[in-house]
Order: sequence, then C-alpha cells, then structure tokens
Amino acid sequence: MQHLRSNNSDIYFGGIGYQKLNSFLSKNQFSIIFVLVDENTHEHCLPYFLGALETKVTIEIIEIESGEVNKTIETCAGVWNAMSELNGDRKSLMINLGGGVITDMGGFIASTFKRGIEFINVPTTLLSMVDASVGGKTGVDLGSLKNQVGVFNEGEMVIVDPYYLSTLPDEQLRSGYAEILKHALITSDKDWQLVKNIKEKTLEELEVIIIRSVHIKNDVVLEDALENGLRKTLNFGHTLGHAVESYFLAHPEKELLLHGEAIAIGMILATHLSKQLFDFPEEKLIDIKKEILSIYDPVDITEDDLNEIKQLLIHDKKNSFGNINFVLLSDIGKHLLDVEVREKQISAAFAFYRV
Ligand code: GLY
Repeated sequence: MQHLRSNNSDIYFGGIGYQKLNSFLSKNQFSIIFVLVDENTHEHCLPYFLGALETKVTIEIIEIESGEVNKTIETCAGVWNAMSELNGDRKSLMINLGGGVITDMGGFIASTFKRGIEFINVPTTLLSMVDASVGGKTGVDLGSLKNQVGVFNEGEMVIVDPYYLSTLPDEQLRSGYAEILKHALITSDKDWQLVKNIKEKTLEELEVIIIRSVHIKNDVVLEDALENGLRKTLNFGHTLGHAVESYFLAHPEKELLLHGEAIAIGMILATHLSKQLFDFPEEKLIDIKKEILSIYDPVDITEDDLNEIKQLLIHDKKNSFGNINFVLLSDIGKHLLDVEVREKQISAAFAFYRV
C-alpha cells in the first residue's frame, strides 16, 4: 500500500511521496516554499529531502530549536516574523520537516499565517509518522498545558518515509512506538499481538507496522475528524500520560521524559483503571504492563509527584465541566469514552504501576 486518502489530505508511504510532491509543486504556482526544520532535521534530514525535491520555486529554510519546551506561541511569532521578512504571501507553501513539535506547530503557523496558507507534513520521527502528522491537529502548548491553543486543519499531503527513522536515536524510536502500541490496544487483540512480537524493530519490520498504524489512525479520523466521539479513543493513555509529561516538563531537575515514555505510563494506568471500572481482563493487564515495561524503564513517581500530577489533570483539555474524563477499555479493542474516574482509583492505578 502506497497511499491513503484522509479527509482532506493524501498520505503517501515511501518514495512515491516525492513524485506526488513534485507534481503538486509543478501544478501549483507557489510564490515561495518555506521548509520548517529544527537543528536536528536541518542536519540529518534536510539534505536528503532537498535532494528529492524538483522545483524552481525559491526555497527558504526556517530553523527553530528542537524540543517540546519550544512548542510555544513565542516560537510561532519568530517564524511568522521570518516569513513576513521573506515576503511570504498567501501563495506561500509551508513544508514541515520534523517530529511532532514541528508538524503540530508548523501546521498551526501555516494555518494562521495570512489567515491560512497550504502546508505539507514530512514527519521524520516515528511518533509524527504514526500520529502527529495525520489527522489535522495543529497547535502549541501554553505554559505546562499541552496543545492548549490550536486549530484542526489537515495539510495537503503527508509523506511517510521510513528512511528518516535511520537518523533517529533509539529513545526517539521507543517514544514513537508508544503510539503504535496505543493504536493496537484500541483496535484488536490481533494488532496487539503483532506489535508486541516485534522486538528487534528493523526498518523493514517497522515499515509494515507503521503502515498498519497510520491506517488505524486514519480510519478513526475519517469517521470523526473533530473528536466529537470515536477520535477520543486516540486519547487512550493520554489523560494521565499528558499530566505526567507536563509534570516532568515543569520539573527539569527530574529525569527528562519523552512524550511516548509518558504515554506508556499513561497506558498502564488507564488499563488498570479499565480493570477497576470495567473488568478489563487481569491477564491482559499484566501482559500489557510487562510488555510496556520491557520497552520503557520504570519511572520513579513519588507521592509528592503524584499530588501535583493530579492537579495538572484538572487542566487537561479533554475534561469538560470540571470532571476528569478518561478513555478506558473493557477489553483490547473495546473502548468506553468520557468515563469519570475517582481520585482514589487514580491513586490505585499509580500504586499498580509502581510495583
Ligand atoms: N493524537 C491524538 C489525535 O490525533 O487525535
């Protein structure tokens, strides 16, 4: 499979993506092409990407600093200023070459510059390939609140090229793998068996799983682009995972936790909540914890940490009317949305994670 159609965009896998991009560029009269990169994708991905591009249109590279801490409105302002100084207009095109921060923020920058210019995502991390760059969620963090400001807007095209994974350190691959595990858990036992049996994660094995995972995500966003219902299943593990991630981001003295590492914790917690509330099968809960902890080292979360994490939960964007809402499972592939959970059940889930 080389192509998937999403609501308003095309997703291409591998080399065909560049052919499609080049013919898109020759059919459209763009005034300028901005390529948004960070220092890592500038060095490791941009030369390969530019080598595949065939166009006479002026290309301007805009570099921002990597990392979730830079996913801010201030960074956006810097990029909007650069685009203005480079005479960007409504016929400009933005190409986001990078991980989830670049594709989320670049999509937001493009969606709001001059009231919206066209953009294309070229994800270079596993996380952005299987999740961030597909489905049109764009935005930035506001202080410690993740993705608090943004818009839904799909770019014209997503090019998923596993080549870029060869430029990544192992921990980034592990981080992205959490979203693959999530897609499997919300879909079927068969998908869970498939993803948990891939231990070596060679690029060839990953490619098969990436395509399957993007397919799962795309099916969800095709049915519910604006997250009124089914799309909430993609938040499995994220309510607590985001709170854990925000907490660790706000405490640089603690260990650095990548997004996927936090979501991995969130999925163990959410599965335990699922067992407490909906009788999720115990043997599968144990299997999920074992598999996740075989990929992600356990993180020390103290009682003090837990108290602050619970406070952060109150601000989670997925909550409505002040309740803490969760996506839980009664079994692998069987979801329940908007579940209210009590504080002591959250504490019990953390206790299970810690042992
Ligand atoms: N990452 C969750 C979503 O795209 O809805």
